[in-house]
Amino acid sequence: MRSSDHGLLACPRCAGELHNLRCGSCGVEYRAPGGIPDLRVPSDARTEAVREFYARAPFPGYPPRDSLPALHARAARSGFARALDHAIPGDALVLEIGCGTGQLSLFLASADRRVVGADLARPSLELARAAAARYGVRSVQFVETDLRAPGLRRAAFDVVICSGVLHHTADPRASFAAVAQLARPGGVVVIGLYNAYARVPLRLRRGLARLTGFRWVPWDPVLATAGPSPRGAKRGCVTSTTMWRSTGTRCAKCSAGFAKTASSTCAPSPARSWRTSNPISSPSRPMTGHSRPLSRSSHGCAR
Ligand SMILES: C[S@@+](CC[C@H](N)C(=O)[O-])C[C@H]1O[C@@H](n2cnc3c(N)ncnc32)[C@H](O)[C@@H]1O
Repeated sequence: MRSSDHGLLACPRCAGELHNLRCGSCGVEYRAPGGIPDLRVPSDARTEAVREFYARAPFPGYPPRDSLPALHARAARSGFARALDHAIPGDALVLEIGCGTGQLSLFLASADRRVVGADLARPSLELARAAAARYGVRSVQFVETDLRAPGLRRAAFDVVICSGVLHHTADPRASFAAVAQLARPGGVVVIGLYNAYARVPLRLRRGLARLTGFRWVPWDPVLATAGPSPRGAKRGCVTSTTMWRSTGTRCAKCSAGFAKTASSTCAPSPARSWRTSNPISSPSRPMTGHSRPLSRSSHGCAR
């Protein structure tokens, strides 16, 4: 991480500013083994179980002989990645929280965009950092942190992406609030949650793979070479996505920095569709406040 990017980090204990990874407020010092700042604080048993799972099974896996053009080709086949790339301005400051092995972060870190990829699981981040070095992508930094006590500066990011993550936490509503406060006022938060119906093909593939003792893993070059996943593993991340626009105004109920009308609840819930017609405006063009997700989604706000 470049020293100029340390300004995007914060103390996970007190949210104080970090100077050379030392908190200016509470004085705690942090380390950055292998160049990945460790800004994770001790957590509850559930978070620890999730962390251990993804430490053993980093997701998403890298295919053998991967390359930057191959990563871009994969992303080009993903409507979600394409839509994000299309919507996010080339000079935006982007945070992907729960980035796993950082493939989306690496894909988005083009032009003048700066991307921070954060995750609980260090082995995933090590793969991400190694891929960044292999591909020569310099405008991305990886940080080990828990989204519920994030070692990241509040209200700093133009776009915060959190896909396939909130439903792993004990209290997704509180987790949403924690993630939301990282977006700058007028910034955008993109949330992806698992969708039961969209996961049906994945379940079929997994069933077939199990039936054949993982000798045949249909339509998946990564899993085909990865072998059986740990028991209970949910590999594959089929999500519905919702975008939220931050206003910097606190929601009285969940304390997320999102405007709400008097009757809304600010609860994230699965979106029905991803709309490419919702461009994310450039940081130089401040966004106006919104009281609802940008995509037309089945969100929880009772307007
Ligand atoms: C299903 S993977 C999704 C990875 C990536 N976002 C994607 O869509 O491919 C879930 C990721 O969330 C991370 N995660 C789970 N709980 C987290 C938390 N409390 N804070 C940060 N990351 C978390 C896990 O370590 C894992 O890498």
